[in-house]
Amino acid sequence: MNNALLLEVKSLSKVFPGTRALNSVSLEVRKGEVHGLCGENGAGKSTLMNIVGGVFPATEGIMKFDGKVFNPKNPKDSQDAGIGFVHQELCLCPHLSAAENIFIGRLPSKGGKIDLKTL
Ligand SMILES: Nc1ncnc2c1ncn2[C@@H]1O[C@H](COP(=O)(O)OP(=O)(O)O)[C@@H](O)[C@H]1O
Ligand SMILES: [Mg+2]
Repeated sequence: MNNALLLEVKSLSKVFPGTRALNSVSLEVRKGEVHGLCGENGAGKSTLMNIVGGVFPATEGIMKFDGKVFNPKNPKDSQDAGIGFVHQELCLCPHLSAAENIFIGRLPSKGGKIDLKTL
């Protein structure tokens, strides 16, 4: 497949106190591709996705999304760029519906109320 490069991760490292979770990881994702990230427990899969998702920053390295330097400061920056992130360790709001949980923070609204039909 020779589609345009969408996500580019270059030499990303992440150091937590006492642990180097990522050591110079690079990844390229092109439009239309599906990738599986495989590795044993503690390999750093969630850490990598959390950095792409804007949950926390990398210690070193750069990312590009759609050709531009991508440096999300928070999950909203990442969402605004077009990245959807379904977390493995979910913290659901049990009083909300499944759809409300999925769209939390960006619920469609109409007349100041949640637009349930669009949701
Ligand atoms: N918030 C954190 N603070 C300190 N260490 C962490 C934190 N998150 C992950 N780690 C450590 O980073 C390494 C990678 O973890 P993680 O990305 O969760 O791996 P995976 O998702 O592949 O199982 C592990 O050694 C883990 O203990
Ligand atoms: Mg994980």
